[in-house]
Amino acid sequence: CALAPELRARQLHLGAEHALLLGADGQVFSWGGGRHGQLGHGTLEAEPQPRRLEALHGLTMVEAAAGGWHSVCLSETGDVYIWGWNESGQLALPTRRLAEKTAPGEGGGDGADTKGGASTEDGAPATFIAVQPFPALLDLPLGSEAIKASCGSRHTAVVTRAGELYTWGWGKYGQLGHGDGTSLDQPRRVKYFVDNQLHVKAVTCGPWNTYVYTVEKRKS
Ligand SMILES: *[C@@H]1O[C@H](CO)[C@@H](O)[C@H](O)[C@H]1NC(C)=O
Repeated sequence: CALAPELRARQLHLGAEHALLLGADGQVFSWGGGRHGQLGHGTLEAEPQPRRLEALHGLTMVEAAAGGWHSVCLSETGDVYIWGWNESGQLALPTRRLAEKTAPGEGGGDGADTKGGASTEDGAPATFIAVQPFPALLDLPLGSEAIKASCGSRHTAVVTRAGELYTWGWGKYGQLGHGDGTSLDQPRRVKYFVDNQLHVKAVTCGPWNTYVYTVEKRKS
């Protein structure tokens, strides 16, 4: 399908059911299947045509990546925006307490809020969101600036300006690089590259694996 003629595409990323396009002007467009919120338009509807992400209006994006059912993009200032499916923790958004979901003035402080495993009326776990249909700003530890990102089927990897790699999400096959098969719902720095004096320059995820390009840190 045709984009508006004045739009020049800089990057195109394909998820399992959706497409994400970064335009030369730093605007992001998405289309395709939306069942898991991966389009970022606030609904779970499919979009037959490329649609601009209104939620990112006014921000200039320099990098984008599509996972199986989630999406990420990085702003020119190094901020990470992420949305879509969180089934394995691939969004790394802080867990929302029941208290935050309760409308103001509805007694957000009652006993159930303090119990981590509390359930909503319909019995769903109260502290878990499976779908984030709008881009959400994700804070990396220590305010690191993100310059590259890639997504696997259900995991996410980000390279920082300082040359460090952060990964999170599904870890069953060791794809996070932390030395085990644990899944993570928050960004964690991959220690291997720090320990081995390697500066990470770029990352590319396969569905269940992760590749990085590194250079040796210059010894002073
Ligand atoms: C995202 O998913 C992970 C793993 O299933 C979960 O631990 C975490 O609480 C979820 N995040 C939110 C914001 O619900």
